[in-house]
Amino acid sequence: MSLNKSILNKQSLFAALDELATQGWSEAHEIFPLDYCAGLAQECQKLHAAGKMDKSAIGRGISKSIESKIRGDDIFWLDNHPFFENLDFMLQALNESFFLGLKQFEAHFAFYPPGAGYEKHLDNSRGQNNRKITFLLYLNEIWQETDGGKLVLYNPQEPTKMICKIAPKLGTFILFRSDLFPHEVEKSSANRCSLTGWFRDDK
Ligand code: OGA
Ligand code: MN
Repeated sequence: MSLNKSILNKQSLFAALDELATQGWSEAHEIFPLDYCAGLAQECQKLHAAGKMDKSAIGRGISKSIESKIRGDDIFWLDNHPFFENLDFMLQALNESFFLGLKQFEAHFAFYPPGAGYEKHLDNSRGQNNRKITFLLYLNEIWQETDGGKLVLYNPQEPTKMICKIAPKLGTFILFRSDLFPHEVEKSSANRCSLTGWFRDDK
């Protein structure tokens, strides 16, 4: 185990987990240092500029398709990235707090070019329920109200009722229950970078 290599602010993480426990989602700003996030932002931009990202798809297996009107981002799946030190620590902390039996995580960079968004959805494909907790780390140093691109969370009991809108500003970190919260990404008019992933209960 290499838990002490994780750069995250543990006190802020535990505060976010308390919020997650009481309301099913949380918004935090101080879990990751901003200069660390700026490094991730650069990495995401470089991967996109180098043509290393793939068009995102919706569904899986035979029903998998690229529908850029529904979901317009490009993604790059991470494999053994140093950020995983943080996710290892979080997985353990989540399991200690919630008894979710989380076993693994998956994560990708996402790049939404101008005009892209992601329509309202839940984070599990039909028939699948292994994604338990969604996390989002936003990576945009300059973000203005007119850029749009906000995350919109909806009420699990009343999916037409909005809970909040969150701008994807550098260092903002969101957690929510993947199986409960419908959410969408409003169309943005600027490039929009994030690091997104899921904690899962399957192996
Ligand atoms: C997703 C997603 C939200 C965001 O990738 O499934 O909902 O704010 N992303 O980037
Ligand atoms: Mn989603």
